Amino acid sequence: MIAKLNLAGFKTDYVVDIQEIDEQHRSFFEMLDKIGNVVSDMYKPLSEEEADALADVIDELREYALIHFRTEESYMKEVDYPGLSKQKKEHNRFITDVIRMEAEIVNGTAMPAIKIRNFMHDWYRDHILALDKPFSEFYNKNKN
Ligand SMILES: [Fe+2]
Ligand SMILES: [Fe+2]
Repeated sequence: MIAKLNLAGFKTDYVVDIQEIDEQHRSFFEMLDKIGNVVSDMYKPLSEEEADALADVIDELREYALIHFRTEESYMKEVDYPGLSKQKKEHNRFITDVIRMEAEIVNGTAMPAIKIRNFMHDWYRDHILALDKPFSEFYNKNKN
């Protein structure tokens, strides 16, 4: 069934050559598949039961993202990365957006699951390519 297809995926383009960070990025993309597993059709509005299950998954993804952002920021501090505050700002914005989506899921005004999944997927992809990759180049040049 099309709605159950796993659309997420970690691509080799996303590799930043910092092992712990690559593992966390990969895990996040794998966890995204859970969204499709808790709804019968990602393109349809959510039933109350689906909304409850989806809220739990999104909660888990947000907590995982938070752990990841803290990990990444500690690597940045280690090498006095000049882009730290920009990264922090983007990380915080993601968390804020996800909290807003969780509230929409709980109060029944959420977008279909596919839009939530795509938002998270695309944000991670774009953020890795635009910000994490330049950081990792800096890190790998400047680490001890
Ligand atoms: Fe990252
Ligand atoms: Fe980041």
